[in-house]
Amino acid sequence: MSELYDLIVIGSGPGGHEAAVKAGELGARVAIVEKGELGGTCTNVGCIPTKALLACSKKYAELGKLKRMGISVENPSFDFAAIKRHQAQAIRIGRLGVQQLLGEAHVDLISGEGHITAPGKVEVTAADGTKTLLEGKNILIAWGSVVSLLPGFELSERVITSDGFLTLTQLPESMVIIGGGVIGVEFATFLSELGRQVTVVEFLPQILPYDDAETAGFVRSEMEKCGVVFHTATKVQSITDTGSGVTAVAVGPDGEVNLEAAYSLMCVGRKPLLFEEELAVLGIAYDKRGVKVDEKQMTSVPGIYAIGDVTGGVLLAHRASKQGKAFASRLFGDGFVRFTEESVPSVVYTHPNVARVGITEKQAAEQGLTVEIVRFDFGANALARIELMGSGFVKLLFSDTMLIGATVVGAQASELIALLGFIVSNHLGKKELDSFILAHPTLSEIVWK
Ligand code: FAD
Ligand code: NAI
Repeated sequence: MSELYDLIVIGSGPGGHEAAVKAGELGARVAIVEKGELGGTCTNVGCIPTKALLACSKKYAELGKLKRMGISVENPSFDFAAIKRHQAQAIRIGRLGVQQLLGEAHVDLISGEGHITAPGKVEVTAADGTKTLLEGKNILIAWGSVVSLLPGFELSERVITSDGFLTLTQLPESMVIIGGGVIGVEFATFLSELGRQVTVVEFLPQILPYDDAETAGFVRSEMEKCGVVFHTATKVQSITDTGSGVTAVAVGPDGEVNLEAAYSLMCVGRKPLLFEEELAVLGIAYDKRGVKVDEKQMTSVPGIYAIGDVTGGVLLAHRASKQGKAFASRLFGDGFVRFTEESVPSVVYTHPNVARVGITEKQAAEQGLTVEIVRFDFGANALARIELMGSGFVKLLFSDTMLIGATVVGAQASELIALLGFIVSNHLGKKELDSFILAHPTLSEIVWK
């Protein structure tokens, strides 16, 4: 008879490991099952490696600005092998961090693929085929997500996804990116900052289709300054790997577009990883958008819960991890940690960044909400000018005096959004913004002056 756990977590991404750690800290007996590397998509092929790459290209691109400050950097260059070592190191440290957190919370780590055979029972198959049966009072599904591919298109050595890009050892000279969403614009930023030729093909009339037209237009024009070519409202028809490059055919408003590049990156979305047979046998409700859960993250089968990307919605690491913490806090603690969907910020790590929390102007218009929009420009901020941060703006959306949404586009938008997120998630507004003091000169002053 195996040990009876209070909680068995399947998947060690941000959702799974944060839930396991929080439950362990609250005194629960917890096991976490992982079939791949610790840390999931985020640590291994998502947030961490991509931001490590973008950190390098950003520093390189910024060298060009130094001349205006009287600093000369003659013939700057970069070493892609060293950039890859930076990426690998960021991943390695991320995995070790997860391992340490799990260890400190006394969580049992079980390597292998876990499948729920019945409520309370998980069978784990290790890499060598050995099977172990775990028993638990509660089970948490945190399977994560996988890349979506366009029907009829196949991957090859030169037609790759973000996973494939992250394994390249040579930096491609040129790239046709299919999909002008988050992954598309982030990789376009990295490549163009390192001087590579990038073309983005986007099916919808604007890139970053979930954003306001103004925001997406701003990002597009900043990226065009870096040489990126965009074809919006354009549908890709075919991509051919010629062995030495790729050719792509697309159709846009002005007819057929023929493109050539060294590689093509497919990034047209991700979808929840669903083990459909298992879900069907257990009677867990799901559809192609994900496993269905209630406000306590419980599936349609009592005792089986799900969090993170596998439940669909906005696929973000911090959303998964907060859901995980809130879930464990509710089940084993005092429920002190709350998760509210409206409070999830999102950041696109282009240079400059786009960051938003709460509702956007576009969503307010779609929902017919009456909002007051207060706007600030980076040009009006002393530090932004002194440090040559470039242009950008902040848009605050108020309902009466309460802040219900904020969009920041500009340098360090990813940091500025933290304060605004705190205000939105605590239903605060103009009064609170008026009654605290920001140091001068700081970029934060831009949000309310
Ligand atoms: P995942 O991180 O996908 O983890 C799921 C884990 O479960 C995996 O380790 C998997 O191996 C394991 N697993 C699945 N099934 C089983 C099984 N049966 N048995 C055992 N183990 C199993 N989000 C951000 O917030 N910021 C970013 O900057 C960002 N950048 C990204 C960049 C890229 C290129 C990509 C692809 C994604 C990015 N994301 C980003 C999204 C983010 O990575 C995901 O939202 C996040 O990782 C989801 O966490 P999760 O715990 O739900 O699942
Ligand atoms: P996405 O949904 O952001 O963008 C996909 C884009 O592809 C959309 O603009 C869509 O209109 C376009 N598209 C769809 N079909 C197409 C076609 N046939 N031809 C051309 N374009 C087409 O998905 P993406 O970029 O793959 O990223 C997946 C998810 O990963 C994101 O939604 C996000 O949740 C997560 N992510 C988050 C990051 C962050 O937080 N900074 C960074 C990277 C990924």
